[in-house]
Amino acid sequence: MRKKIVAGNWKMNCNLQETEELLKGLIGKISSSEDKTIIVSPPFTNLYLAKQLTANTGIEVAAQNVHEAKNGAFTGEISTAMLNSLSVAYVIIGHSERRAIFGEKDNLLAQKVNVAINANITPIFCIGEELATRKENKHFNLVAQQLKDGLFHLSEEDFKNVIIAYEPVWAIGTGETASPEQAQEIHAHIRSLLEKKYGKEIARNTSILYGGSVKPENAQEIFAKPDVDGGLIGGASLKAADFITIAEAL
Ligand code: PGA
Repeated sequence: MRKKIVAGNWKMNCNLQETEELLKGLIGKISSSEDKTIIVSPPFTNLYLAKQLTANTGIEVAAQNVHEAKNGAFTGEISTAMLNSLSVAYVIIGHSERRAIFGEKDNLLAQKVNVAINANITPIFCIGEELATRKENKHFNLVAQQLKDGLFHLSEEDFKNVIIAYEPVWAIGTGETASPEQAQEIHAHIRSLLEKKYGKEIARNTSILYGGSVKPENAQEIFAKPDVDGGLIGGASLKAADFITIAEAL
C-alpha cells in the first residue's frame, strides 16, 4: 500500500546554524515508520549537515531542485551526482515557484525527473493550478496536462518511484487552504488519471501529497481524506513544534 508522507519544504530559509537548531527540534520527536515517511528539504548549502544530523533518525532529506545535466559549465547549478554523493534520496521537482519565478516548463521538468530517477533519487513532482485557472474551472485539465508533459513518458517501472504533490498556487503561502473536499476531489481526479495511464495497482500505490497553507490546525482534516496521502509543507515546516504536530496528524 502507498506510503503516507509529510515533507517540509524549507525554501530559501535557514542558514547553517538555524538548520541545526530546527533539525535538533525534530530529531527524536518524529520519525519515519513502515508506512509513513518524514522528509525535510533544506537549501543546498545545508544538505550535508542535514544528512549528517539525521543519520539513523528516521528523518529523510530532500533537495529542492536539481539540474538536468550530468555535469559541466552550468554555473550555480547542482547535479544528481552531487546529491548522490551526500546520499540525498529525494528531490522536489517543478515546485510552482520554480515554474513561475524561474520559468521552468514541463519539458524541462520531464528531463529533471529522468535524471533523478536514473540516479535513484525519488522525485517529488509538483503540479497545481493558479487561481485564474480554477475560476475558469480548468484545473482538472491543467493538472492532467502537467502530469502528461512532466511524468507520463515514464515506464511503469520508473513511475513507481515518483511521489506527486498537488499544490494549488493560490493556496501557497497565502493562508488560504483548499478545503479538504476540494483537495479530495482533485486528488481523486489525479489518481484516476494515473489509473488510466498506468493501471489500478500503480495508481493505488502512488502517494499524492497536498500542499498549500497546511498548518497544525487544518492538517488532520486534510490528511483524513482518502486520496490525500500527506502533505508538502512550506511555512509551517520552519517551526519544529508546528511540523511535529502536522507529522503527528498523518
Ligand atoms: P506553504 O507552502 O505551506 O507555505 O503554503 C507550501 C509549498 O510551497 O510547498
